[in-house]
Amino acid sequence: MARILITSAIPYINGIKHLGNLVGSQLPADLYARYQRGRGNEVMFLCATDEHGTPAELAAAKAGKPVAEYCAEMHGVQADIANRFGLSFDHFGRSSSPQNHHLTQHFAGKLADNGLIREVSEKQVYSNADGRFLPDRYIEGTCPNCGYDKARGDQCENCTKQLDPTDLIDPRSAVSGSTDLEVRETKHLYLRQSALKDELDKWIDSKTDWPVLTTSIAKKWLHDGDGLQDRGITRDLDWGIPVKKGDADWPGMEGKVFYVWFDAPIEYIACAGEWAEANGKSDADWERWWRTDKGADDVRYVQFMGKDNVPFHTLSFPATLLGSGEPWKMVDHLKSFNYLNYDGGQFSTSQGRGVFMDQALEILPADYWRWWLLSHAPESSDSEFTWKNFQASVNKDLADVLGNFVSRITKFCRSKFSEAVPAEGAFGPEEEALIADLTTRIRAYETHMENMEVRKSAQELRAIWAAGNEYLQHVAPWTTFKTDPERAAAQVRLGLNLIRLYAVLSAPFIPDTSARMLSAMNTLDTSWPDDVAAALSALPGGHEFTVPEVLFAKITDEQREDWQARFSGTRA
Ligand code: MF3
Ligand code: ZN
Repeated sequence: MARILITSAIPYINGIKHLGNLVGSQLPADLYARYQRGRGNEVMFLCATDEHGTPAELAAAKAGKPVAEYCAEMHGVQADIANRFGLSFDHFGRSSSPQNHHLTQHFAGKLADNGLIREVSEKQVYSNADGRFLPDRYIEGTCPNCGYDKARGDQCENCTKQLDPTDLIDPRSAVSGSTDLEVRETKHLYLRQSALKDELDKWIDSKTDWPVLTTSIAKKWLHDGDGLQDRGITRDLDWGIPVKKGDADWPGMEGKVFYVWFDAPIEYIACAGEWAEANGKSDADWERWWRTDKGADDVRYVQFMGKDNVPFHTLSFPATLLGSGEPWKMVDHLKSFNYLNYDGGQFSTSQGRGVFMDQALEILPADYWRWWLLSHAPESSDSEFTWKNFQASVNKDLADVLGNFVSRITKFCRSKFSEAVPAEGAFGPEEEALIADLTTRIRAYETHMENMEVRKSAQELRAIWAAGNEYLQHVAPWTTFKTDPERAAAQVRLGLNLIRLYAVLSAPFIPDTSARMLSAMNTLDTSWPDDVAAALSALPGGHEFTVPEVLFAKITDEQREDWQARFSGTRA
């Protein structure tokens, strides 16, 4: 049994996430976690809310609430929606947890001990109109690297370059739009990433199985221009993790907090500690996932994220871990996604454009969305959500192919035999051929899932469903029944067993529907079809079942037009 640690990029606390956010990390991470559990592996799947930084502060101010209260509330809201989307986290933590406070201060202390932190007295942008220092991402201007005119002070969304606010050309406050900005003197801590450059370089070189897209982004920041830059890891803000050196005060840093991008990835580790606490486990129980000196050397660690997160996960966070000099588990495979667009434009949280997770669940169950999003995951390029495409794929793949198969075979059996698997007849050449075809396809499905090729996995699964339909169409038990009821019985027995098989294979994509299929087939047997022939005899003659309710309702043109109009503007 393999041990697999899976983390999804942790979503910002402010506001409910849209479907583009969902498909960029949490949903594919869930797909992989469910698949690995289905294969019998030991999985630790962690996610959390990313609670620090100015967006949280500003959102809380807008809601008229103290920021801690706002975060606690929004964490509850996000946890509930994640749950309703079937995201099967072992723990959904909070970057504001005591565990993360402790661990973040611990890492800072270790980095300082190892000579990897330097104090810098620097000039920072203060907005007179806003009456505050402006954090990096709340200063907007033109990117010095690519010329994009809405670049943020921390990173350019267009070219992914990590920036410092003073790099921006023509800066303005993103809070008020004011250009009445002045530069004030303040002291900050910098992580000496440049000193870790060779070590990071060697580490990246050891990742020979990483996609070129990922390594090339990392290599670019390591070698382009002046090479890897040191990063400021503290901020002049109230809300965040107080700057400390381990448990000790850090003279001169009073009233400052760590930068959100310093503490957020550390939450991946702290979250395991939160999991242990929530489940009455010991430190050893979480450390065996994260400390290579305490059992994590045989863990495979996979991270999921959107492409804009790649530099932080290939350089900044590894710099923290390597720089600590402690034996922390580092990422083995990193799966990153492009962007999902919405109906001719971009999803946008700030503009409320697109479909948000809560709204999606108001109109259709999670599995409809999970199937569409995963089968159209923005892997090799950006992809686009359109209502037409959504309707077509739900109606075809889910209703016509899978739903129809289940309905046809169960209803036919009930009407001609009974609500029990028919025992008569034996499998012949058609069944052998189907088993051979399914065996090839299931092995391909496993390979794609193992490699986190989300679209290819969905395609193969669809083909596996279609093979069952084609078989039924071809052997036509409703015709066979008139002349050879025994042969029809064998065909129906195979069909009913296919429902169980489909439930097992499809569970990572459509977990609720899978559960309904298993429950209709009256079985708890979720064993993986290593041997397809054996898997298709799992439900023996005489095994009772029930005809399930329609699995997927088709989306009508009326509904489609209605929803398209309803979600065309911006969210209230
Ligand atoms: N909150 C960030 C985002 O949504 C992701 C943080 S990932 C972590 O882009 F590594 F920092 F945890
Ligand atoms: Zn740029």
